[in-house]
Amino acid sequence: MTAFRFADTMLARLDELGRISESPDFLLRTFLTPEQKQAHEKVAGWMREAGMTVHHDAAGNVVGRYEGSQADAPVLMLGSHLDTVRNAGKYDGMLGVIAPIACVADLDRRGKRLDHAIEVVGFVNEEGTRFGAPMTGSRAIAGTFDPAMLETKDRNGVSMGEAYRAFGLDPAKIGSCARRKGSVAAFMELHIEQGPVLENEGLALGVVTAISGARRHRVEITGLAGHAGTVPMGQRQDALVAAAEIVTFIERRCTGTPTLVGTVGMMEALPGAMNVIPGMTRFSIDIRAGDDATRDAAIADVLREIEAVCARRNLTFTVTELYNSTATPCHPALMDAVEAAIRAQGLPTMRLPSGAGHDAATLAPLCPIGMMFMRCTRGISHNPLEAVLPEDVEVATAALLHFIENFRAPVQ
Ligand code: GLV
Ligand code: MN
Ligand code: MN
Repeated sequence: MTAFRFADTMLARLDELGRISESPDFLLRTFLTPEQKQAHEKVAGWMREAGMTVHHDAAGNVVGRYEGSQADAPVLMLGSHLDTVRNAGKYDGMLGVIAPIACVADLDRRGKRLDHAIEVVGFVNEEGTRFGAPMTGSRAIAGTFDPAMLETKDRNGVSMGEAYRAFGLDPAKIGSCARRKGSVAAFMELHIEQGPVLENEGLALGVVTAISGARRHRVEITGLAGHAGTVPMGQRQDALVAAAEIVTFIERRCTGTPTLVGTVGMMEALPGAMNVIPGMTRFSIDIRAGDDATRDAAIADVLREIEAVCARRNLTFTVTELYNSTATPCHPALMDAVEAAIRAQGLPTMRLPSGAGHDAATLAPLCPIGMMFMRCTRGISHNPLEAVLPEDVEVATAALLHFIENFRAPVQ
């Protein structure tokens, strides 16, 4: 039996959170659900045990605070998200909440206070699984929450605003979560890499240089439902085959350009019967790149293609943008500090960009941001096969603690 200083407790906690799910068959924990409440209460308990005071803010985030010796000094904020994708792994997001709690618990055991307070945030709704609009927890704190997001609806037609009220929160108060610029010295997020680069390089930890920008759209194409046996092939207004053409166009357009990626991850065909020509289809488009111009050029081409395919097939369509984040660099001083923290563990490291989105990017308008990546097995993520090595969890947490104890606020 190994006896890690941090990893045994942390892995047990990650397993516990991984069992709080809306489905008995796989991990699914979405925004404004009883499972969110259960997970946040568990995390709040661990925060209190670590010596923090806890509050649940108006956006639904759980926030733990470990006071520093100077009450008004800008805080060092750490954290990640507690929501999941459908059929998720149990480390995406959760690691970045559990690790800083373990660091604060260690400081508390040693009776150590820093000059400034430390806050650990478990963000709601980073993934956007339920309503499509992601990052609303971190947007609320950054002061960039757009009330129009409250109109987005889940699969059952429940709007985010209605879900807030049913959860017992008043969405009109979300604006009160916004932090004043200058009140947060920096935000640091530890996250699994969700890709294979560190593993291929034989490295446990990496320094993130920048977070790719992403845009997400929802497309609805309307044709004419009809009898699968009677309407001749040349006379159909089949919304699903149009969508199929668009999906393959996205794959072609996004292949071969470094960092550019395009995904259609959700699609529905209605009315959804074997013997009915699909009269309507709805699907999502997620396009990302390391620079915004590359991403936007691809999106412009995809939108032109949607128009052309629908015109040729006598279909109508609507496109709604759900999310738009720009490519975000990490602060150079925080990259250096993360690198020093990793090297202090006696480990080599490298710098790498993040293709995945993170709450850190959303917080960039508020304060300098930094990220540390931890290797995950075969780079697999957004999948129940997501796995980590206990020794990586241990060393990542030790590096995070080094970062926290040696933190100097970067020039903003
Ligand atoms: C979050 O996981 C994202 O990058 O979509
Ligand atoms: Mn994710
Ligand atoms: Mn994540």
